[in-house]
Amino acid sequence: MTGPPSALAESAFLRAARGLRGPHVPVWFMRQAGRSLPEYRAMRTGVAMLEACSRPELIVEITMQPVRRLGVDAAILFSDIVLPLKAMGVDLDIVPGVGPVIATPIEDLAGVARIPDFTAESVGFVSEAVRGLTAELKGTPLIGFAGAPYTLASYLIEGGPSKDHAKTKALMYGAPDVWDGLMQRLAATAAGFLTAQVRAGASAVQLFDSWAGGLSPADYRDYVLPYTTRVFAEVAPLEVPRIHFGVATGELLADMAAAGVEVMGVDWRVPLDRAVQRIRPAQAVQGNLDPAVLFAPWDVVQQKAVDVIAAGKRARSHIFNLGHGVLPATDPDVLARLVDFIHSHEVAAAE
Ligand code: CP3
Repeated sequence: MTGPPSALAESAFLRAARGLRGPHVPVWFMRQAGRSLPEYRAMRTGVAMLEACSRPELIVEITMQPVRRLGVDAAILFSDIVLPLKAMGVDLDIVPGVGPVIATPIEDLAGVARIPDFTAESVGFVSEAVRGLTAELKGTPLIGFAGAPYTLASYLIEGGPSKDHAKTKALMYGAPDVWDGLMQRLAATAAGFLTAQVRAGASAVQLFDSWAGGLSPADYRDYVLPYTTRVFAEVAPLEVPRIHFGVATGELLADMAAAGVEVMGVDWRVPLDRAVQRIRPAQAVQGNLDPAVLFAPWDVVQQKAVDVIAAGKRARSHIFNLGHGVLPATDPDVLARLVDFIHSHEVAAAE
């Protein structure tokens, strides 16, 4: 039985994403579905990451696990940023402890042409999982997500994770036609993947540009922003809140905010009150407790969470999150305790 649509629309997360404040700050965690949970590790025994992301019953179960255990205000689809590329036919794998690895890295226009077009049919199993999830989640919103063109391009060009993104930048500066062809294709992929998730029932979308923080603001504006703007423009007619996030993007926040979103994700390096000065007044903020703080004594966790909430009051509205994903060694009991603490912390009166 699904709840009345208004329960979902009036959820703390969706209200905050629309710029409205409530009695408490809503909270969810990037990478909440995953290795910090023993029930996740149990489900993954003998099941490869990409296989887990391809079986609707596993997607539903793993997405639900943190909602049940932690009581977070939103679910995020269990998937990966490279999943649509895999579904389209790109030869890649997610290697444990490494990350995405691409069989034939992209070097030229012929490489770009080898990437098939995104089709909604190729991710039909994701849509099926999203439909199952929205029925089970009732009043709890589901966040759909995609990898932003730059972050996906970095994996496709480097062939895997990279610290300096030297090959990516060499292609970006040296082969503008290849860069444009690749980024357009990845923008279409991200927009198509987000659209498929929203059509199946996701209530919000987040675009992860995890590695954009390695760019100077000028390069971000010249080589990345036009494509990210295209992604957000293509999903705008779906009328769900759009969240934009990257790591170490303090110097890029103003330019990332210009891509046109309702919510700006902020990593832990920039206090939220300072981030507010860089983004647009109409935008909400999401973040930004350092994930490593969760290994500190509880009184430190609590004080730093209070500091985040206090700084977030300068924003139009605030969605509590970590400044990046949950680290695998995190104690799930600390996550649950943090959710309870945020929920019990009244902020409406204080302005
Ligand atoms: O947030 C969630 O809980 C939803 C699930 C999710 C995963 N990946 C599952 C996953 C999300 C939102 C992602 C996004 C993702 N994937 C990003 C952007 C977010 C970020 O962290 O900046 C990036 C850069 C990737 C690429 C990727 N996939 C990396 C770097 C890794 C880690 C490799 C490793 O093993 O250390 C993955 C694998 C991955 N994606 C895991 C999970 C749960 C771990 C796989 C496992 O459990 O074996």
